[in-house]
Amino acid sequence: MTDHSQPVGPVIRPRRLRQSVAMRRLVAETRLDPAELVLPVFVREGIDAPQAISAMPGVVQHTLESLVATAREAADAGVGGIMLFGVPVDKDAVGSGADDPDGILNVALRAVLDAVGSRIVVMADLCLDEFTDHGHCGVLSADGRVDNDATLDRYAAMGLAQARAGAHVLGLSGMMDGQVAHVRDALDAEGFTDTVILAYAAKYTSGLYGPFREAVQSSLEGDRATYQQDPANATEALRELELDIAEGADIVMVKPAMPHLDIVAAAAAVSTVPVAAYQISGEYSMIEAASANGWIDRERALMESLLNIRRAGAQIILTYYALEAARLLRA
Ligand code: PBG
Repeated sequence: MTDHSQPVGPVIRPRRLRQSVAMRRLVAETRLDPAELVLPVFVREGIDAPQAISAMPGVVQHTLESLVATAREAADAGVGGIMLFGVPVDKDAVGSGADDPDGILNVALRAVLDAVGSRIVVMADLCLDEFTDHGHCGVLSADGRVDNDATLDRYAAMGLAQARAGAHVLGLSGMMDGQVAHVRDALDAEGFTDTVILAYAAKYTSGLYGPFREAVQSSLEGDRATYQQDPANATEALRELELDIAEGADIVMVKPAMPHLDIVAAAAAVSTVPVAAYQISGEYSMIEAASANGWIDRERALMESLLNIRRAGAQIILTYYALEAARLLRA
């Protein structure tokens, strides 16, 4: 029982440091900066006006023109990077559009690089799912399974096409074993020694990718559970991270972000290269849907979500809010 006859000392008051905006600003441990945000964008072949994505209010499939205009706005707002995803007219079994120099993603890369290439880091998604008619991230073997090693050669060809288009960073998002080493070798052999590899080291299979499927008009049936990680596992994420760094990844990424902040923190604790996190389509859509219903304060929720991802240890954040957040941060 507490002995109330003994002096207990002063009340310790953590609230002292929360008393005003100025005081809270002084002691804040985490700050967001536009420079560490990356804006993912979709560019669709064969359209003459931007197309809305119903599951992602405020996000569109761009024309080449509107893409370049958005890239300019992002650079002007101080956003650190822009990540391009292509939506081709024609898809086939091996994703031929991915490494075609005239394929939509490679054409778009050149256009963006021409316009803003010295002011913002230009990144390309390196994966086949936007280009295959079956919607998987790799090519299929005769029995319908995703063929890891045959896919690696397709990634090397795609990576080279993107490097030739001038991409600064290649975002390897396919989760094939050995993809980082394979693409690095191909780049080095052609003299692209400065092309940076951002490896999706820990990419979990997730129901939250749904809106993205609409954004890239994916025809995927089933799921990606044989190549993306099982959300039940944490140790496996560190194994993937270690392998990607050993294979030469310059930046590693965890994705989705918010459901996996424990993994972001664990990766940040051990990684010897910068750690990025991707706030994916479904994370965006959840905030949008709740806001549209008046259930949460949109701006507050979106800025809080980014701050929390940063606090968990992500040095770089991919988010559909990058441009808006950059503007809010500078306001
Ligand atoms: C693969 C890729 C995907 C996303 C980024 N790269 C789709 C997937 O893995 O199913 C998802 C991004 C998002 O949902 O915002 N090309």
